[in-house]
Amino acid sequence: MPDHDSIRAVRWTDSGLELLDQRVLPHQETCLLLEQCSDVAQAITDMVVRGAPAIGVTAAYAAVLAARVRYAAQPADWKPAFAQDMQQLAQARPTAVNLAWAVDRMQRLAASQQGDPVPALLAEARAIHDADIAANRAMGELGAACIEAGSGVLTHCNTGSLATGGYGTALGVIRSAWAAGKLGTVYADETRPWLQGARLTAWELVKDKIPVTLLVDGAAAWLMQQGRVQWVIVGSDRIAANGDVANKIGTYSTAVAARHHGVKFMVVAPSSTVDMDTASGADIPIERRAADEVLQAGGQPVAAAGAQAWNPAFDITPAELVDVIVTERGRVERPDRAKMCSLMAITGN
Ligand code: MRU
Repeated sequence: MPDHDSIRAVRWTDSGLELLDQRVLPHQETCLLLEQCSDVAQAITDMVVRGAPAIGVTAAYAAVLAARVRYAAQPADWKPAFAQDMQQLAQARPTAVNLAWAVDRMQRLAASQQGDPVPALLAEARAIHDADIAANRAMGELGAACIEAGSGVLTHCNTGSLATGGYGTALGVIRSAWAAGKLGTVYADETRPWLQGARLTAWELVKDKIPVTLLVDGAAAWLMQQGRVQWVIVGSDRIAANGDVANKIGTYSTAVAARHHGVKFMVVAPSSTVDMDTASGADIPIERRAADEVLQAGGQPVAAAGAQAWNPAFDITPAELVDVIVTERGRVERPDRAKMCSLMAITGN
């Protein structure tokens, strides 16, 4: 594997789907082997695997598991049970559109199959996985080209190999810019409440020998005020047709602070994250997660007993706060509906 890219979170094996358990990183590097589609759906809900593109890749392999089980049980009439599995899988998490995108793609292929569907579905899942890595590499180059030498960058959540098929979206740009010798300091928000920045981004970057400096989410605006970063670089769970961006909670406040301080704001996501059927961010479903994720840390209570918590997992950054969206199809500066339409029409949606 090339430099600064040694991690893979999702692996297909002959026995089933292997997922690196992201709930216990960085303290334990444990893999789960899953053989049932319903177990994969639960693993997505529980965030064993997370990050929009990684969820999409995982769902594609889950469809292979479903087909394997359903075809073995009822070779002449496996499709109705498979369709039910796909319906359940699509509901595992609501915000990342890559999940519905992958399920839809696998379902369309499954519908056209005569005989054993597994070889064709496995080839499709592998193609989705490989295409995601290739897209990340392309976006890495496109995004890194925007960054002036010596820039400090700030990222939010985890958008790296763990969150994708491999290499990463925003973290892919950071990997590419680092490899090109362009970056000063890489800053990462710790990303409360799930600590994707502190636990996952820091783990990936340390492992791949890219120095990283963590900060609490509330320090981001002050970091910008001090002139330490020139770019905020984030991923996305869904980009609406008008360029509004859903991403990890805290992204919006970072974008507001960036605009206030004249810091550029870059969103990096494959075209599978662009949802032209969703007109604007107002139409994107925002996942609400359990209050305990806020009230506890590492299973220990951190809040006063009796307090309640509001825990939206994502927020919407309006297109007007985005300087550039980078996809594998190209860059869109100051996105709006017309520019997103022409980006997605280049090779069809
Ligand atoms: O709740 P998570 O960890 O799945 O949220 C992940 C994010 O918000 C990422 O920024 C997004 O999925 C893009 S990952 C390349």
